[in-house]
Amino acid sequence: MHIQQNISLKSYNTFGIESEARYFVSVHTIGELQEALSLPNYLKKFLLGGGSNMLLTGPIDALVIHVNLKGIAIENQNQDYIQLSCMAGENWHDFVLHCIDNNYGGLENMSLIPGNVGTAPIQNIGAYGVELKDVFLKCDAIEIATSKEVSFTDQQCDFGYRNSIFKTTHKGQYVITRVTFKLTKNKHKIQTQYGAINEHLSLNNITNPTIKQVSDAVIAIRESKLPDPKKLGNSGSFFKNPVVDSKTFEAFNAKFPEAPFYALANSEFKIPAGWLIEQAGFKGKRYGDAGVHENQALVLVNYGNATGAQIWELALKIQKKVAKDFGITIEPEVNVF
Ligand code: EPU
Repeated sequence: MHIQQNISLKSYNTFGIESEARYFVSVHTIGELQEALSLPNYLKKFLLGGGSNMLLTGPIDALVIHVNLKGIAIENQNQDYIQLSCMAGENWHDFVLHCIDNNYGGLENMSLIPGNVGTAPIQNIGAYGVELKDVFLKCDAIEIATSKEVSFTDQQCDFGYRNSIFKTTHKGQYVITRVTFKLTKNKHKIQTQYGAINEHLSLNNITNPTIKQVSDAVIAIRESKLPDPKKLGNSGSFFKNPVVDSKTFEAFNAKFPEAPFYALANSEFKIPAGWLIEQAGFKGKRYGDAGVHENQALVLVNYGNATGAQIWELALKIQKKVAKDFGITIEPEVNVF
C-alpha cells in the first residue's frame, strides 16, 4: 500500500475543486481497505468514492482512502432474474451500460448518473421515475471502527428520497464495498411514464422501447439539460427538491398556482427546487467562477477556478433568497466538507 502526501483532489471530485489531501491512498482490495482503516498513525480517515456528490471547501487534513475496488459477478440467476454484484469502485454509468449490453433490465432510467456504484446507495440515487432501491438486493460494507465485514438488506438501509441510513443513523460509520442488484433478464419493466422520456421516444417514433432505447432517451435528455462534469465542474443537483406538508403547500399553491409540484403518498408535496431557484432569479447567473447552470437551476457549476468556499457562498445566497421569496427552505443534496 502506497501512502502519498499532499495530493491534489481536483481530479477526484466532479466539481473540479482544488483541495489538498494531507495523506492519500488508493485501495484495490477489501484487505487493503481494512489495512488502511486500521492504520494507527492516521486517526482521521476520509472515504472517497467517485467524488460526484461532494463539495470540498478546504484542505482535507486526514488520510483520504480512495475506494478503488473493481469487479462485477453473477451471484445467482434463473430464467427471469439475475442477481449481479458490483464492487464499489466501478463507475456507475459503465455498470449501467454493462447491464444493458447483457440485456439485464432495471437500471436504464438511471443512465449517465455520475459517481461510483459504492456511493449510489448512500443517497439512494434516482432519476426519471426509478430509484436505486427499486433494483437493490443488498450491500456489503466494512465497519470503519472495527474493519469488520457486514451486509445490509434493502429493509435495513431504510431508503427514502435521496436518503438512507448511511446519511442518517449510520453516517460515517461504514464503507460500502459491494452492491448486489436484482435485475430482469426478460419481461423488462419498461418505465417511460416520466414525461420527458415519452416525449423523446415518440419524437423518434418508438412505441415499444427496449431497455437500450430507454437508456438512449435518458442519456439524450440528461445531455440536453445537465452539464458534463468532464467539461464543466458540477455535482448534479446541488439541492434536494423540498417536501412540504399540505398546509404549507396550499398556501404556496394559492400564491404560485403556476408552480409545478408532485403529490406524495402521505399528503405531502414535493416542489421542484429548480423552479424555485429559477423564479428567485438565479438561473444562468455567474459570480466569478461559481455559477448556476443555464439549463437546470438545480445544478451549481464551477467555471474553472472557483473554490469550494465560493460555491458554498453562492449556495447559501440561493437558499436565503428562496426562503425569503417562497417561505420554503431548500437543503443541499451534496455533502459539504
Ligand atoms: N424546473 C424549472 N427550472 C429549472 C429546472 C427545473 O422550472 O431550472 C422545473 C421543470 O420545468 C419541471 C420541474 O422543475 O417542471 C422538475 O424538473 P426536472 O424534471 O428537470 O427534474 P428535477 O426535479 O429538477 C430531479 C432530480 C434529478 C433527476 C431528475 C429527473 C433531484 C434533486 N433531482 O430533478 O437528479 O435527474 O429529477 O428524474 O431530485 C441529481 O440528483 O443529481 C439529479 C440530476
